[in-house]
This record gives sequence, structure tokens and C-alpha cells, in this order.
Amino acid sequence: MLVVGMGGSLRTPSTSLTALRVAIEGAAAAGADTEVISLSGLDLPFYTAERAAPPAARFLADTVHAADALLWSSPTYHGSVSGAFKNAVDWLALLADRDPPYLSNKPVGMLTTAGGVQGLQAINAMEFIVRALRGWSVPLVMAVAQSSRAFDRDGHLSDDAVADQLRGLGAEVTRAAVQFRAEGTCDYAE
Ligand SMILES: Cc1cc2nc3c(=O)[nH]c(=O)nc-3n(C[C@H](O)[C@H](O)[C@H](O)COP(=O)(O)O)c2cc1C
Repeated sequence: MLVVGMGGSLRTPSTSLTALRVAIEGAAAAGADTEVISLSGLDLPFYTAERAAPPAARFLADTVHAADALLWSSPTYHGSVSGAFKNAVDWLALLADRDPPYLSNKPVGMLTTAGGVQGLQAINAMEFIVRALRGWSVPLVMAVAQSSRAFDRDGHLSDDAVADQLRGLGAEVTRAAVQFRAEGTCDYAE
């Protein structure tokens, strides 16, 4: 069972990357193998179908395809996901010809950090993308509002309640992936 986290912003420290790493801890505690892809480390060019995909894009697509479940994390930028995050998911066009294609049968847990209170707008934007890519969005989401209160200047998460909720999201995504693997269905039970 492999849960792959992808996201974070391109700045350091990145609260959305820290939050992703905490959520991944929850997946690991629930029994999953885990991997985190930091978008700042990938240095992806803008997506185009006009030339061969660079190694970073192929690595992203291959790692996502190998995952049983995903955790997505973007900072909230202007009421949506960041351009860097959207560009990364645009590269998942490379999964069009895989079997199964795109994010079929993969539960996706979504989280964001927001300076204000508009984080759910980024979550909603992610959910549209998940559906477009044939994935299954997990109903439990985490929009960490007023991120400067939950994270210190070094980007460390200092709010234990938020950390617990993030780990809970990682555990929920893992639970959904276990059900998909067993039955090809998911009940998202309480
Ligand atoms: C270009 C830009 C746009 C932003 N737009 C919003 C916004 O619309 N709503 C909001 O609540 N916060 C907004 N913020 C604040 C970020 O969501 C917040 O600082 C977040 O924690 C940054 O994540 P990071 O630490 O991973 O970079 C914006 C920040 C930037 C740099």
C-alpha cells in the first residue's frame, strides 16, 4: 500500500509542504508506505504536449501511477490552487495511456494552507481536478486557515490540534485505499 503526497509551494519554508508531511505521517501510522514529492524540488517546466516530457515530469507521473492513494497539498493562491500545483497536475496528462488511465481507483485526500480563510476554495479547485482525472476525492479535507497562527516563522507546525487533523486525513486516505484494493469500492464509513 503506497500513499504518495505531492505539493508544497516553491518557497522555503513552505507551510503547505510541512502540512503535507504531517498528513503523510498519518498514512504511515495507518500502515502505508509513503513518499512525498515536493514541487519545489521537481523544478517542472510549464506543461506542453509539444515536446518530450522532461525526466522530472516522467518521475512525477510514474510515482503517481504507482500510488494506491494520493495526498495533494497546495497553498491557497488568489482563491484557488497555486500555478505551480496546477502545472504539476497538468503533467499528469502523461497518464492518459496508462492502464488504468489517469487516477482511476485512487482516493485523493486534499489539504491547503491559507493566509486568510479562503482555503476551501483551493480545496474545491482540487476536487474539480480530481474528478477530471477520474480520481476519488475523500470527503474529509483540511483547509488550514490563518496559517501564520498554526506555523511558526521556520515553518514548523505548532498547533497540535491541526497536526492531529492532518494525520487523521492521512489515515482516512489509507483506509479508503485499503478498501479499493480489497473490493474496488469505497464506502467512506464514519
Ligand atoms: C500569490 C499569493 C496569493 C495568495 N492568495 C491567498 C488567498 O487568496 N487567500 C488566502 O487565504 N491566502 C492567500 N495567500 C496566502 C497563502 O495562502 C499562505 O501564506 C500560505 O500559507 C502559503 O503557503 P506556503 O507556506 O506553502 O507557501 C496568498 C499568498 C500568495 C503568495
